[in-house]
Amino acid sequence: MGNIFSDRISDVPRSFIREILKVTLDESVISFAGGLPNRDLFPLEEIKAATAKLLEESGKDVLQYSSSEGYRELREWISARYRKKGMSIDADNILITAGSQQGLDLLGKTILNEGDSVVIEEPGYLGAIQAFSIYRSRFHPVPVHEDGIDIGLLGRTLSEHPAKLMYCVPNFQNPSGISYSTENRKQVAELLQGKNILLVEDDPYGELRFLGQDKPSFHTLIPHNTVLLGSFSKIVIPSFRIGWIAARHEVMEKLIIAKQASDLHTNYFGQRVILQYLKDNNIDEHIEKIREAYGRQRDAMVSAIREYFPAAAQYTEPEGGMFLWITLPEGLSAMEVFKKAIELKVAFVPGDPFYVNRTNVNTLRLNYSSVDAGTIRTGIRRLGEVLKTMIG
Ligand SMILES: Cc1ncc(COP(=O)(O)O)c(C=O)c1O
Repeated sequence: MGNIFSDRISDVPRSFIREILKVTLDESVISFAGGLPNRDLFPLEEIKAATAKLLEESGKDVLQYSSSEGYRELREWISARYRKKGMSIDADNILITAGSQQGLDLLGKTILNEGDSVVIEEPGYLGAIQAFSIYRSRFHPVPVHEDGIDIGLLGRTLSEHPAKLMYCVPNFQNPSGISYSTENRKQVAELLQGKNILLVEDDPYGELRFLGQDKPSFHTLIPHNTVLLGSFSKIVIPSFRIGWIAARHEVMEKLIIAKQASDLHTNYFGQRVILQYLKDNNIDEHIEKIREAYGRQRDAMVSAIREYFPAAAQYTEPEGGMFLWITLPEGLSAMEVFKKAIELKVAFVPGDPFYVNRTNVNTLRLNYSSVDAGTIRTGIRRLGEVLKTMIG
């Protein structure tokens, strides 16, 4: 049989992380490669109770088709939570999606024609690179530093390549763990103000802050330009695939059409169970537990890095979220480090898949959310041994 596949799918590489995760299935490997929330913190009993109560009280109602926008009461809950944080987002402007990952796909479908320019962080979230690649967009990467995106290069990129979308993760970015400072956000907002561009603010980690102060959302700074993505994956559970998009009315109308074409609506039963869980439990207390655990795990990783890594390896110091980013000396390939690390039974993600046009980079991502503090120490010690043999 000849090639029956579309150009759109043929151009998108397989997820490299999947290949790496195969190596880590060996249980003796300490893996900092995953991107998973810590399963020990999943509210299993509470989800069981919410499911039983819902089926008991609402019966067959929760087994029917539902509306494309998502369950109204859940959208109102999300709107009320934003209000508590001082943000005004009406339930009418919230679309429930199958995780924020679907939000990215729907935005690609709604906004991007083939060849359209997308500004993306470098390094950037692999899932966004993959989602927008399907729509055959042209990426313009702009580096991020410890306090946010490079403003000079962003300005230049925006004037050289008028883009329709800019994608960013300003809180505890995946993969680097960095966050944009308030000043950096204001500068970004100033650059975008008045331009015909949508800023996609992807914020699955914003609630997982264990250090420092919350920073203003772009939705507050430039509401007209901002589409805000949120998710229950990291604060409740990821398996239900429930997230949301908050967007202004005209964008929302188109997104709803895209949503209908994709899957009619997000899993209704899952939406109802999550809402029941949220009504019957104190979500703030639950999030506090996650913050404390991830904060401890992050501290364990940072102190082990200080102790065991050669001084030439630089690291970010995240104030929240699940990832930390290592920059090795120029010219050293993290892919080569990976091959040696696997021999010592420790894994991570080499930086390559987080760049749209560079390979054999000298950076790598470490995840600390799904490994306990003791194991983190052992893994970082092993990685330190590998780095010392390669850096000297
Ligand atoms: C930045 C970012 N956006 C989106 C997602 C996808 O999340 P969801 O489970 O809500 O689809 C992830 C998951 O790791 C992520 O890191």
